[in-house]
Amino acid sequence: MRRLIYVLNGPNLNLLGKRQPHIYGHETLADVEAACRATASGLGLDLRFHQSNREYEIIDWVHEAREDASGIVINPAAFTHTSVAILDALNTCEFPIFEVHISNVHKREEFRHHSFVSGRADGVIAGFGTQGYTLAIQRLATLIAAQP
Ligand code: DQA
Repeated sequence: MRRLIYVLNGPNLNLLGKRQPHIYGHETLADVEAACRATASGLGLDLRFHQSNREYEIIDWVHEAREDASGIVINPAAFTHTSVAILDALNTCEFPIFEVHISNVHKREEFRHHSFVSGRADGVIAGFGTQGYTLAIQRLATLIAAQP
């Protein structure tokens, strides 16, 4: 059983901690990566953690993951609401996929209420702050462990 998972982050998340902290909090993406690594290693999972402001790079990482990983946690950020291309890429994967949003997108502007990615995600966490990432990793670990 492959024990590798990917955590993928979309545009503007490189500015986490500086960007609208009243919405996204004060933790940086490096803090999120450290928390994800600690959680994954405690669960015996290997982790690849990426962020990009470019849609094609996220698609390329999904393609990479479909070859060598057992699950994806993805915060597609603004691409959530626009990207059929990321949805199509995720639809090529057969393992569990969890969508994470730091903020509760349903409490925000109407245009954030629709997610293309939710059309494929096995679960969605929104509004749990950056803790949503580690919760999603825990769920992935449970599903991976249950696989024959
Ligand atoms: C976000 C919510 C999106 O609507 C927004 O475009 C983001 C971040 C979140 O984590 O709350 O960039 O995905």
